[in-house]
Amino acid sequence: MTQQIRRDAHKMKAFLRFRETKREGEGRRHFVAWFEPEHYILESVAPFFAERFSDMDWMILTPIGSILHEDGKMRCDRTPCEAPDLKDDVETLWHSYYQSIFNPARIKTKAMRSEMPTKYWKNLPETRLIPQMLADAENRVAAMVALQNDGRAPAFHARHQAEWREREAVTRREEQALEGLPALGRALETCQRCELCRYATQSVPGAGPERARLMLVGEQPGDQEDLQGKPFVGPAGQVLDRVLKHVGIDQETVYLTNAVKHFKFVSKGRRRIHQTPDRTEIVACSAWLEQEIRLVQPDLIVTLGASALQAVEGRISRLGEMRGRIREGSMARPASLATIHPSYLLRLPDPQRAREEEARFMHELGLARDWLARR
Ligand code: URA
Repeated sequence: MTQQIRRDAHKMKAFLRFRETKREGEGRRHFVAWFEPEHYILESVAPFFAERFSDMDWMILTPIGSILHEDGKMRCDRTPCEAPDLKDDVETLWHSYYQSIFNPARIKTKAMRSEMPTKYWKNLPETRLIPQMLADAENRVAAMVALQNDGRAPAFHARHQAEWREREAVTRREEQALEGLPALGRALETCQRCELCRYATQSVPGAGPERARLMLVGEQPGDQEDLQGKPFVGPAGQVLDRVLKHVGIDQETVYLTNAVKHFKFVSKGRRRIHQTPDRTEIVACSAWLEQEIRLVQPDLIVTLGASALQAVEGRISRLGEMRGRIREGSMARPASLATIHPSYLLRLPDPQRAREEEARFMHELGLARDWLARR
């Protein structure tokens, strides 16, 4: 327990972020921070902050009390506080700073999570950038290597600088997405993270309640979804609809989305034939899915088919091995369950086999229903 308390105090010193608040008149600058400690550590950490930030006025608010520092005097109070609405110009500085120290060639996500546990992320301005930076890391490393090996480095460099400037603009637009699902949908409209945006009619965001307990993740929009801008409105959606009804899951309560937000297809005459998205497209799109998960905070994610499984669980996941088992969640991720994609049932030529597979699909969605009911 002593160790836990020491760790909590250490994390508070490392992960507390002050935001400047504007006050009438002149005088000392004033800052506010919000933090959620696990133990009653305010009195023990207060001297650290008072010493380090002695020349400004500040308040640290927490659910178990506050520390106030004004005109060089500090005092602690055990009255619980509510999270304030904090945002300031320094936030942009944090973002630039964090982006510049992030080395894409030295990613150790495990170490990162143990050093900066994900439970602290929501109060840290810079962590919003992590999903995006991880998603971009492979390309950035490739660009760095090419830059070193390329005899024509200056020209190459100039081209990459232009690309990076464009990417930063995209990142800024996408940051707006952090404010809620409607804003996420608007930001998604401008997504150019991969080639698919060039050919699809539009991006298709997820649909459903902002705080759905169950999130279903499909592969990508199909032909109908691409035209209507909504997920699962075509033939696969009809199968899903029927199965959900049979199992007793009200679709209105479910958040439906896809691993990839643009339709990938090849044209054959007038028809557009679905193509499975590849790994780079799934990775490029994963930041959107991560944001949806962060905003909806579902209790359970059901992945439909192999692409969704890859997007949620990572490259090595095999549907055959993971299917039909609930993987319990953690602080960092919701619980998940893998099953087939409903369009698989439409492709099975043997009606008997299709019936059997449909029964298994129903059984697996039933597991999701029962798991949710038990919680
Ligand atoms: N298939 C999917 O995976 N998603 C859709 O939205 C439609 C078909």
